[in-house]
Amino acid sequence: MSPDARPFSAAAERNRAPILAELLRLLPPRGTMLEVAAGSGQHAAHFAAALPAWDWWPSDGDAASLPGIAAWCAGLANVRPPLQLDVLAPAWPAVPARLDAVYCANMIHISPWPCTAALMQGAARHLANNGLLILYGPMLIDGVITAPGNLAFDASLRERNPAWGLRRLVDVEREAGRASLVLRERVALPANNGLFVFGRAGPG
Ligand SMILES: C[S@@+](CC[C@H](N)C(=O)[O-])C[C@H]1O[C@@H](n2cnc3c(N)ncnc32)[C@H](O)[C@@H]1O
Repeated sequence: MSPDARPFSAAAERNRAPILAELLRLLPPRGTMLEVAAGSGQHAAHFAAALPAWDWWPSDGDAASLPGIAAWCAGLANVRPPLQLDVLAPAWPAVPARLDAVYCANMIHISPWPCTAALMQGAARHLANNGLLILYGPMLIDGVITAPGNLAFDASLRERNPAWGLRRLVDVEREAGRASLVLRERVALPANNGLFVFGRAGPG
């Protein structure tokens, strides 16, 4: 695929810098990363370039996304060929057995709710003891007034697909708990998005 033919998300281009700043703060210098729902591949390319000691495994449920991800990541020695990974699969055999982090941006509100539970369960199966599951996107947070733009986005998602829609953080945390994961940190980011960092329950 030529550089001009690569898929392009304006939002991914805008949000990559604030997300990367948080990843650089949160992640150790090296490790193995699974990116779930990599979409266009712009995040994979930007983050893997800035984290060269991380072994980056981009994936998406949609096989049609994989050539674009590969094209964005061309020339990056620390990025693996993209995997087709539907989080709903009962096992993720192509994914390394032990991951130091799982990153997933903008999937849980643009997929049916069971995908959130499956993401939690899959991450918990593969994460090392001190591993992190890092979600990015808009979320409904109890006690925090939802921005009008996010309410409109929620309505538009539900119109496109009644199974989609912004998720409530308390519901996401409940699913995390079923996978023995807990929310360790929440960071507000521009455009009414957030970063939600989960780790294993227990000390740490
Ligand atoms: C809005 S895009 C987000 C892409 C990218 N992460 C970003 O933030 O720009 C949502 C992505 O979720 C993927 N997706 C939806 N359901 C999925 C599933 N069950 N398993 C894995 N990926 C899924 C879609 O194929 C799509 O690439």
